[in-house]
Amino acid sequence: MIILSIDIVVLPVAGLGSRFLPATKVIPKEMLPIVDIPLIQLAVNEAINAGVREIVLVTNPEKPAIEAYFRPQPVLEQVLIKKGNQAALKSIRDTLPEGVTMHITYQYESLGLGHAVLCAEKIVGDRPFAVMLPDDLIDGGGTGCLADMVQLYNYTSACSLAVEEVPREQTNKYGIVQLKGYNIIAMVEKPDPEEAPSTLAVVGRYVLPSAIFSALKKVQPGVGGEIQLTDGIAAILDHFEFRAHRFEGTRYDCGSKLGHLKANMVYAFKDPALAIPLRQWIVEYLLKT
Ligand code: G1P
Repeated sequence: MIILSIDIVVLPVAGLGSRFLPATKVIPKEMLPIVDIPLIQLAVNEAINAGVREIVLVTNPEKPAIEAYFRPQPVLEQVLIKKGNQAALKSIRDTLPEGVTMHITYQYESLGLGHAVLCAEKIVGDRPFAVMLPDDLIDGGGTGCLADMVQLYNYTSACSLAVEEVPREQTNKYGIVQLKGYNIIAMVEKPDPEEAPSTLAVVGRYVLPSAIFSALKKVQPGVGGEIQLTDGIAAILDHFEFRAHRFEGTRYDCGSKLGHLKANMVYAFKDPALAIPLRQWIVEYLLKT
């Protein structure tokens, strides 16, 4: 049997980002920066580190900024060339490295994450593929969470979902898995704490078989009246091996204000030009308040 590697990733980015209104009235939440890099770019970087060569944006025609961000900007490039600003020039040219293809498709209605993934079916075809939710920023851990999951697939041909422990009172915010050894044997979307089969939550990295598409076409609307990716995966657990991947590094929920702020702090402290003045200012500010 030939095992195909994972060369394509789906990024569902059609959501409204209502938790960041009014900013997200015109700026897609995936374009909100972590210091100076948009969340979508951090997800693309992680995908490229994992060896992915095709990226599918499942977006929304009301969010043109994401597509524009990945297109060349010749006027801006000319300005930067004239100014001799090589670093800025490189940063705008590197949004999508050479050899990486970006496909754009649209999710016209907010019918859920499962529906968003289904919108990518024609582009992905019958390949195994990855899904990344850019809101879930995973910092640290070597080459990246997705790279480890792709390697796991290459060695074992097992699909996988990234997971982490959450407090029991938060199970109703996540897909929750039940394990037997490393294998996922059941999965439920946003269960109440008293009904959750465990406290192991799925975070936004998935390596999936193409069979998920036919499963998603059959699932009924679930939590929130939406087509849930979790329900599609649950329907094929008996036919495919799914591993729970306890990733290295730290995940920041950048779909929440607090998580987004924390990620900004962590990335600012990585920048030598910001780390010392920021630390000094934080100490002074905390002493004053
Ligand atoms: C989605 C998934 C959920 C998963 C979560 C991770 O939920 O439906 O299973 O645990 O992402 O961030 P959302 O955050 O879109 O409500």
